Amino acid sequence: MKAPYPDKYRPFPPVALENRAWPNRSIDKAPVWLSTDLRDGNQALFEPLDPERKLRLFQLLLDIGFKEIEVAFPAASRAEFDFTRALIEGGRVPADVTLSVLTQSREHIIRRTMESLAGARRAIVHLYVSTAPVFRRVVFGLSRSEVAAMAVRGARLIREIARDMPDTDFRFEFTPENFSGTELPFARDVCQAVMEEWGASESNKVIINLPSTVELSTPNVYADQIEWMAANLAHRDAAIISVHTHNDRGCAVAAAELAMLAGAQRVEGCLFGNGERTGNADIVTLALNLYTQGVDPGLDFSAVNRVAREAEELTSLPVHPRHPYCGDLVFTAFSGSHQDAIKKGLAAQAPGAPWRTPYLPLDPADLGRTYDSIIRVNSQSGKGGVAYLMETAHGLILPRRLQIEFSGMVQQAADASGGEIDAARLWTLFSENYLEAAQPLEYRGHRLFERGDAQGIALTLRVSGRTVVLEGLGNGPIAAVVTALNLPLTLHAYEERAMGQGAQAEASAFVEVSLAAGAAAAFGVGVHENIATASIRAVVSAANRALAKAAPEDGRRLLAAALQRAQAVAV
Ligand code: KIV
Ligand code: ZN
Repeated sequence: MKAPYPDKYRPFPPVALENRAWPNRSIDKAPVWLSTDLRDGNQALFEPLDPERKLRLFQLLLDIGFKEIEVAFPAASRAEFDFTRALIEGGRVPADVTLSVLTQSREHIIRRTMESLAGARRAIVHLYVSTAPVFRRVVFGLSRSEVAAMAVRGARLIREIARDMPDTDFRFEFTPENFSGTELPFARDVCQAVMEEWGASESNKVIINLPSTVELSTPNVYADQIEWMAANLAHRDAAIISVHTHNDRGCAVAAAELAMLAGAQRVEGCLFGNGERTGNADIVTLALNLYTQGVDPGLDFSAVNRVAREAEELTSLPVHPRHPYCGDLVFTAFSGSHQDAIKKGLAAQAPGAPWRTPYLPLDPADLGRTYDSIIRVNSQSGKGGVAYLMETAHGLILPRRLQIEFSGMVQQAADASGGEIDAARLWTLFSENYLEAAQPLEYRGHRLFERGDAQGIALTLRVSGRTVVLEGLGNGPIAAVVTALNLPLTLHAYEERAMGQGAQAEASAFVEVSLAAGAAAAFGVGVHENIATASIRAVVSAANRALAKAAPEDGRRLLAAALQRAQAVAV
């Protein structure tokens, strides 16, 4: 790329706005939302939706709570016209929902558009005319006044036809298309002329929709343009200022938000940012951005995954895994430090208290999502993530030093596979290393007995192809099994925990031992419904792992000595 291109691309001119007010405002109320999924979104698909899919999308929009839905450009095709008719004739439009239809300012198109609305209870007729210089010059070959006259002519015809359709409660919307690339005074003049034609008043407000048809500037410049229009329209109170932002620079959501600060009362957009080229503003993100600021968006995304899957199926466009709020990965942390902070944050988050969890801007449960996928494990993950998954997926709360040891094993496995270690694989790794640490001492069973005040154990093991019974006494089962094993084991730590709740819950036991002073410590784990059995198995597991850490000849010598006292049993 050659840079810069001073003659090819020029910076977008700033707006001369004295004392701009929007930077000092905050958004404390949701706008009126208009979904244009069925129009701008649909027209941008590889394959426009068939009638059945359009109906499903319409129903989805109703379920989310949209009250204004742009359903078609009825004059564009038979399918668009028929869909509008099917909604009206099929009685599919709830009483509190207003259909909107788009039209150009050409007589036959307006007539066909109005025809599509026959019998509608309420409707918005949305007229657009491009006002930008490049359209006037290159596309239409018309002067400013000719473009303005085209808009007024269309507005007049719409008003006249609407007058003869008394059963429909009409509202009118005008869009100076490419508004953000139009000279502001000219955009204002055309809007005013159209408002006048429609008899706009405080009780008969006209929607003035000011789009960034192509996003040309930073969102602050767009916000200035909106504030300028709001300040300079002759009858501001007779207009509902609406914005319709596209995402060419990747800022459609930000532009719509700043425009709301600047006075926009209504926002048009699509679910997940579908729409022409880079798409329209994403209404899911806009709505949930409000939600996380404590403002009721008036739209329901409490089952956002269902909305995402349905939209994906209908449009054949995947929702990106990192899409704000609804991507598969947005409540997932792979990195160790994030996992650790999230785990601590979730534990500290009191029910009903303001949401303050590190790295999670909102409670996934509010969107119908679970915590299950919040922490996922790959080679970037630390002990926090491993411990969290072991606890949430398998009910096993690992002692801290065991977390460190096991997460090292997980990291090696992730490095070797190059991918994610899911909960099932994590369990396999854990049980291979700790629960089934069965060499050379393979636990086969035990019998506890009492001798005087002492606890006795007869421990049955399979060792090197022989089944043997080892006996030991101690002040409890752990001490008894350590004695029975007859190895120079030093017990450093012992912990036991219930896995889950209730009488049927399994128990887990963790022991940390070493074979001689200064030798490397080894963890052993046992899981069983009986806590004594879990503890005994944990000691055997730890002994095996300690033997495995010893030099091979030391291990063999210690084992041979241990087995001298063993009784062989016939099997
Ligand atoms: O992007 C745009 O300007 C439009 C208008 C027709 C509203 O889609
Ligand atoms: Zn658009």
